[in-house]
Amino acid sequence: MEKGAKVFVASDHAGFETKEKIKRYLDEKKMGYKDFTPVKKKGDDYPGYAFKVAKAVAKTRGGKGILVCGSGLGMEIAANKVKGARAVEVYDDYTAKMSRKDNDANIISFRERGVPGKKAIKLLNTWLNTKFSGAKRHKRRIKEIAKYEK
Ligand code: RB5
Repeated sequence: MEKGAKVFVASDHAGFETKEKIKRYLDEKKMGYKDFTPVKKKGDDYPGYAFKVAKAVAKTRGGKGILVCGSGLGMEIAANKVKGARAVEVYDDYTAKMSRKDNDANIISFRERGVPGKKAIKLLNTWLNTKFSGAKRHKRRIKEIAKYEK
């Protein structure tokens, strides 16, 4: 992990190829990251990896997480069990933009079966480059979620 890296990535076997392509994109952009699943293993069930990424994101100011599994759903569900995680499955331009603008999502989840390689990278680029609007009503709603987590 490069010093000051704020991006955390992981996949299970079903998302491994897309995760590797995402890493190449991050390298090109010179964005430091930590990969929690550098090797494809049998029995690499997604929950543990989603928890690891979500915990790292939750304790890193401005941290972002990138998860990939077959459907994108298991990773999303598991990550959202961690306090401070706002994980969303992104599959189109709208979800990429809105999840950042309105929800200040800090973890993106992809489904390799449907949103592989190039498509995922395009959406990730949009997601990483879309800022939270900071609008009062959205801050209020996010605070309400955080309060519920306590
Ligand atoms: C693995 O076969 C698959 O269940 C997993 O990648 C994911 O789709 C679960 O939500």
